[in-house]
Amino acid sequence: MTTRRIVAVEGAEGTSPLIILHTDSARKVAFFKWPYASSELVDLIDFFGVLRNRHSIRAFERRDVEEEKINIILEAASLAPSAGNLQSYEIVIIRDQDHKSALAEAALSQEFIAHAPLNLVFFTNPKRSTRRYGRRGVELYSLQDATIAAAYAQLAATALGLGSIWTGAFYEEPIMKLVGAEDDLIPVAIISIGYPDEEPSVTSRRKIEDLVHDEHASKPYRYKPSRLGLSRPLW
Ligand SMILES: Cc1cc2nc3c(=O)[nH]c(=O)nc-3n(C[C@H](O)[C@H](O)[C@H](O)COP(=O)(O)O)c2cc1C
Repeated sequence: MTTRRIVAVEGAEGTSPLIILHTDSARKVAFFKWPYASSELVDLIDFFGVLRNRHSIRAFERRDVEEEKINIILEAASLAPSAGNLQSYEIVIIRDQDHKSALAEAALSQEFIAHAPLNLVFFTNPKRSTRRYGRRGVELYSLQDATIAAAYAQLAATALGLGSIWTGAFYEEPIMKLVGAEDDLIPVAIISIGYPDEEPSVTSRRKIEDLVHDEHASKPYRYKPSRLGLSRPLW
């Protein structure tokens, strides 16, 4: 049985208070006053629960993602660190059905993109970074800025009870054309988001001692599984 209790009421007088309910598996936040139109419960799983629960989801329910959740995801993305805090990336929201179909086609006909209610396309904006960092800004930092933000967006979606999938296999030019991007905005990731309509498959991972090295690339790190048990089945 799920236990549920109020653990905090936050928000100063005149602002929008939140009630945080604690359940066995997750924290839920109830927004009940302006600017939230109606009372609504949002899943707020703890941080490690979010990491544990994020799996690629490629089948989505038809219902839309609420505006409030989209805005939370965008806020989370913009919290990501970036080189020199320049945020050398742009995000384009794609929800229109014709645009989603064109996006899916550019992504080698990965049809889940056309079926997802929401797609966020992350572009590098190297010009922003190159002013300060030259070639490194173009080749590395703008790419890192964009992809860290995309990762934050995926984790935020999970925390909100949504499923998501990262797509990297696509032709860049049709996407640039689709969104009217300048030559120097390069798409690097499509994050498709929606309510999951499939049980996620749990993918495996490399052994941590294979991918982590102790002081020298040839020396494996002696890893012991943590009590959180975040590891996945091994390859
Ligand atoms: C850079 C990158 C590119 C990816 N491109 C695709 C893709 O084009 N199509 C797809 O179905 N999944 C894609 N994925 C999702 C991976 O297949 C998935 O993250 C991986 O199998 C691990 O599974 P998990 O996300 O459920 O942990 C991509 C993921 C990343 C990070």
